[in-house]
Amino acid sequence: MNKICFFDTKPYDKIFFEELKEKYQIEIEYFEPKLGPKTAFMAKGYEAVVAFVNDAIDQETIDTLYQNGTKLIAMRCAGYNNVDFKAAYDKVHVVRVPAYSPYAVAEHAMALLLTLNRKIHKAYVRTRDFNFSLNGLTGFDLHGKTMGVIGTGKIGRIFIDICKGFGLNVIAYDPYPIPDAGISYVTLEELCKQSDIISLHCPLTKDTFHLIDQKTISLMKKGVYIINTSRGALVNSEDLMEALKSEKVGGACLDVYEEETELFYEDMSYSIIHDDVLARIISMPNVIVTSHQAFLTKEALHNIADTTLSNCREFFDDLPLTNEICYQCSKGDNCHRKKNNRCF
Ligand code: NAI
Repeated sequence: MNKICFFDTKPYDKIFFEELKEKYQIEIEYFEPKLGPKTAFMAKGYEAVVAFVNDAIDQETIDTLYQNGTKLIAMRCAGYNNVDFKAAYDKVHVVRVPAYSPYAVAEHAMALLLTLNRKIHKAYVRTRDFNFSLNGLTGFDLHGKTMGVIGTGKIGRIFIDICKGFGLNVIAYDPYPIPDAGISYVTLEELCKQSDIISLHCPLTKDTFHLIDQKTISLMKKGVYIINTSRGALVNSEDLMEALKSEKVGGACLDVYEEETELFYEDMSYSIIHDDVLARIISMPNVIVTSHQAFLTKEALHNIADTTLSNCREFFDDLPLTNEICYQCSKGDNCHRKKNNRCF
């Protein structure tokens, strides 16, 4: 049995990791706090540490982990924009779960759109109070409208298939288009101009930071709907708030928010929210916010636990790390792993 520790534990994570730990011969110590500079000391003596999307895996955290004997950070997620890869290189290996259920995220994006457009969240509350009025619940047909999809990777492509089932015309933008995939690619500018609804399915990188801002929003149709189930900082929240106030943007479906780290996944219902932009956005009737839950299906949680524990087992058995990523290979540069080795 090898031992690992696990940060930012939630009950739904524990169920699936507990189910699979015997299979991988791994014992797990669960910690509730997020991993960050102030909590990294808790991992002392653990060679492998499991972390998540909102953990702060910066230079200070990595240095503390390294000094205390950690050699592997196993991200139990696909995105890794919260990891300082440069700081980790040559010290701590980083692995992730590249895919666990693209269906979960794509289906949640459509669920948000249907809910907001057809005002299901409002109708549900009304009928529970025996208010059977339809005033204010008018939506629009998705059929025949234009959906602009930004990022045609695993999730984006599934989302496109779902949209086609609704009779939406789909156009897409991706700097790395897939040839012969039957996808109508356009430039980002054309996508902004032509779309009735825009859905983001690209990673957060320095190129995509604030991809949706005042400038791109100004190109869009009045009343456009924006869906973000990818990463909060793809959207400049202040610009989105202004565009919602001016009614340039007609609706926003947000599963992620750029300043979500201290808020999402926690019960803040008894706290004063100091983020005025989030508070204002959430207060709007044409906005629906979920708390980074697009991934949250049984299938996804099972696959996350399975791949994370398999990543840890490969590490303990001195095998090549299938899902390792470092600052060199994340940029597509030369990396030792290309020779079927570890990144360093
Ligand atoms: P993927 O890696 O399969 O696809 C990403 C696509 O984005 C690729 O086709 C890539 O070429 C494209 N891309 C890269 N730079 C771009 C740019 N500047 N503009 C437009 N497209 C660009 O990733 P996958 O699995 O489809 O995931 C997409 C994103 O979804 C992840 O990066 C992550 O941020 C987010 N996600 C959110 C979850 C949630 O629970 N809300 C769960 C899982 C992923």
